[in-house]
Amino acid sequence: MDHVRLSLLVIFSIAGAYSIKAAEVPFNQNYVPAWGGDHIKVLDQGRQVQLLIDRSSGAGFRSKQFFGSGLFRILMKIPSKNTKGILTTFFLTSAIPNQPVKNHDELDFEFLGSNDKGYALNTNVFANDFGGREQQFRLWFDPTADFHTYEILWNQKQIVFFVDGRPIRVFKNNEHIGVNYPKNLMHIETSLWNATWAGNVDWSQEPFIANYRGFEIEGCLYDHSNPNKCYSQDYYWNAGTYLQLSPNQQRIYEVLRKKYMSYDYCTKNLKNHPECESNK
Ligand SMILES: *[C@@H]1O[C@H](CO)[C@@H](O)[C@H](O)[C@H]1NC(C)=O
Repeated sequence: MDHVRLSLLVIFSIAGAYSIKAAEVPFNQNYVPAWGGDHIKVLDQGRQVQLLIDRSSGAGFRSKQFFGSGLFRILMKIPSKNTKGILTTFFLTSAIPNQPVKNHDELDFEFLGSNDKGYALNTNVFANDFGGREQQFRLWFDPTADFHTYEILWNQKQIVFFVDGRPIRVFKNNEHIGVNYPKNLMHIETSLWNATWAGNVDWSQEPFIANYRGFEIEGCLYDHSNPNKCYSQDYYWNAGTYLQLSPNQQRIYEVLRKKYMSYDYCTKNLKNHPECESNK
C-alpha cells in the first residue's frame, strides 16, 4: 500500500463512515421524465430508475420543483462496457424547460465515457452564462460497479461537490472580487446522452444503461414572492458547518485534489479566473 493510500484511509476513518440518509421516496414524487420517456425504466416500486441509450435515443429526468439553495444528492451507477462518447450526468440548471436560456447558471457532475485510459468525472460551474470551469477526476473506486453518492451543496457562501460525502470541489462565493455566483432558481436534471465531441460511440454494444437511486430532495423551494427565503439559516445547509469546509474536510479535499484531479481549468489562463486561488 503506498503512502497516499494509507493516509487517505486514515483520513477517511477519522471522518467516519459515510452513510446515506435512510429516507427513500418514490421517483414520481419528486421527478418526471425530461426527454426520451420510452428510454426510462422505473423499477423496485420507484426506488430505482434506469436510463437507457441506444442509437435511437438517450433519456433524462428532472425535478418537478425549482430551488434556491440545498444539498442535492443522487446515487448513480454509470454504464459499464466501453462507453466512449456517452455521458452520464447529474446537475442543477437554471434553464427552464422549453424556454430560451438566459443568465444561465449550472452545476454539473458529468461522467465522460470510458476509453482505454478509463473514464473521467467532469465537474463544471456556470454562473450568468459563464462556464469553462472544468475540473476532472478519476475516482478511488469503479463507478460502474456500484451505486455511489454524488452531492452538490449550494448556499450563499459556497458550492461543494461531494462524492460519497467527501469534498472534491469547492466554488466559493467570490462576488466581492467580481466573480459571478449562481443565484437563479435551479432544478435538478440527469441525463444519459451521446456527444460527438466526447468520441464516437461503439453502438454495437447498445443499449448502455445508467442506474439512479435516492430520489428524496433536500432543497429550499424557490418562492418568487420571497427569493431571500432560501438564504435563511433555518435550512441546515445554509448554516454552521455548511458555510465552509471544516479543517478535517479541508484536509480530505486537499488530498483528493492532489491524488485524483486529472484536469483543472485553473492551470490555464489563471488571470481570467480570480476565484481559483481561494477555492484551493
Ligand atoms: C448520438 O448518436 C446518434 C446515432 O449515431 C447520432 O445520430 C447523433 O447525432 C448523436 N448525438 C450527438 C449529440 O452527437
